Amino acid sequence: MASEKELIQKATAMLDMAYAPYSNFPVGAALECDDGAVYTGCNIENASYGLTNCAERTAAFKAISEGHRRFTRIVIAAKCEDYAWPCGACRQVLNEFGGPEMEVVCLNGAGDAAHVKLGELFPHGVDSVWLGK
Ligand code: THU
Repeated sequence: MASEKELIQKATAMLDMAYAPYSNFPVGAALECDDGAVYTGCNIENASYGLTNCAERTAAFKAISEGHRRFTRIVIAAKCEDYAWPCGACRQVLNEFGGPEMEVVCLNGAGDAAHVKLGELFPHGVDSVWLGK
């Protein structure tokens, strides 16, 4: 498994890959799967603003499309005063593949890290139980 320091370095490096000409707010992510595989992501904006894909979902979709189904940890980086908490849509996507025990590490611009479980950020998400499946 990667160390937290390695994941932080990968998430932070992804700030340079972000395509964010409209918000000028780069976001980077490093996502760890249950077998130790790590996928990175950045936000990808579009002139049709609503098509923007967040860094977390970029990383998640890369992992899923390569066959991974269980996420254990994600580190999210942004240059902001507050911690880079994931948006609601990303919380729902992470919930599908990480569940409430998934570790979420949010960085702020100073490089401090806030550690939470996904279940704290996103209780009562829609899941297969909710659907009765
Ligand atoms: N963004 C992310 O990449 N992740 C989040 O969890 C919140 C927002 C991106 C979307 C958009 O490109 C920019 O940050 C400003 O909202």
